Amino acid sequence: MSDKAKLKIGGREIELDLITGSEKELGIDVSNLRVSSNIITLDPGYKNTGSCKSAITFLNGEKGILRYRGYSIEELAEKADFLEVAFLLIYGELPNKEELEKLLNDIKENSIIDEDIKKILESFPKSAHPMGILSSLTSALIAFNPEKKLSLSGNEDQDYMYNSIVKLLAKIPILVAWVHRRRKGLPLDYGDYSLGYVENITKMMFQMPNLEYVQNDTLVNAMNKLLILHADHEQNCSTSTVRIVGSSEASLFASISAGISALWGRLHGGANQAVLEMLEAIKKDGGDTKKFMSKAKDKSDPFRLMGFGHRVYKNFDPRAKIIKVTADQILNELGIDDPILDIAKGLEKEALEDDYFVDRKLYPNVDFYSGIIYKALNIPNEMFTVMFALGRIPGWIAHWREMRKNNEPIGRPRQIYIGETLRNFSDIESR
Ligand code: ACO
Repeated sequence: MSDKAKLKIGGREIELDLITGSEKELGIDVSNLRVSSNIITLDPGYKNTGSCKSAITFLNGEKGILRYRGYSIEELAEKADFLEVAFLLIYGELPNKEELEKLLNDIKENSIIDEDIKKILESFPKSAHPMGILSSLTSALIAFNPEKKLSLSGNEDQDYMYNSIVKLLAKIPILVAWVHRRRKGLPLDYGDYSLGYVENITKMMFQMPNLEYVQNDTLVNAMNKLLILHADHEQNCSTSTVRIVGSSEASLFASISAGISALWGRLHGGANQAVLEMLEAIKKDGGDTKKFMSKAKDKSDPFRLMGFGHRVYKNFDPRAKIIKVTADQILNELGIDDPILDIAKGLEKEALEDDYFVDRKLYPNVDFYSGIIYKALNIPNEMFTVMFALGRIPGWIAHWREMRKNNEPIGRPRQIYIGETLRNFSDIESR
């Protein structure tokens, strides 16, 4: 095949380079199109636009493939520890024993949060959404960890970068646990660093005052798997936000804070909360799933089946397959029998057999099942997206670091202007 694409416009022919990825994905390089022709491409929602070259995550939505740095999500979810996956995503290779121990130790060294952050947390109204609090507190951390302009070429900046990464990996779980505990009126603490990373996160979230904490391995394993499954997903809404904010040379913490806000919406990470709210609404309405299936298909009704459909998966979401099995295990092991789950199973069955959903390739996505697991773990609905954010931190860091190391230009899309052409200002009396 030719390594050029030809674009014919009027009588002109423009040659564009073709780019092939390591999995033989083909792209047309339009980066010089405007300079050479004064023409731009238009692609609302970036459905066909690659914004960067990336070596972090490979995703094939048609075949249902997801790999971090070449390792299949199935194998990582089965065998890996979340902190190993975080290191893999950020640095490109699985850590050896020493590297992992050093990372955990460095996290421990940075696991203190300035008490003033606690004061900021306490100034939020109890009703504030945890995603808004997490985004604000992540941004507030900048005041206590000022960042400098990085070149990422010299050793000094590499060390500085490593320290910033460690600080985030250390402090975000504490903030997540604090946000959760404050909602429940529980005392805030700094965790137990004699434990592994995920074991500590689980303890920080679930430890009850005046009660001896006994680790529940089912819970820890579920948490580990959920965090791994959420750790990266290439150029989605929040990750692209992190890259675009960072491209202005905004700090890592500021960029992650923006990513948390982008994740919040119900079409993205907020879907897990929306799924549970939808299931609860169906239950309250009498449990008639068929009625809600009809609403989802009715174009005059804004209702959508939350947790179904995905921009890139036009086959089953591979994360959803893993998480569905985990959800079944957890419910069995914890002995949970919840009518909400019967509604979820009913909806899933109907959607998978319904022409509307089959024709549009709308399958359950990761958020359909993750909410069910979080509910089984007794995590409140409003915290679901925060748990997603906790898992996504390593992915966001990896993308921010890659973008800065590659010295990518500032993100600045074009537009096609469709407003008024030049007109004269009129006096207020004559309007
Ligand atoms: N329920 C009913 N119809 C749907 C749904 C749904 N959940 N999702 C898509 N459709 C329909 C659309 O109405 C459209 O129909 P049409 O072709 O007749 O007009 C068609 O399927 C294509 O949908 P788009 O919105 O164009 O697809 P897009 O790729 O832009 O959106 C999205 C993907 C946002 C995930 C969408 O499927 C959706 O809103 N799903 C529900 C929210 C959700 O679960 N989000 C989580 C995604 S996973 C994540 O972010 C981690």
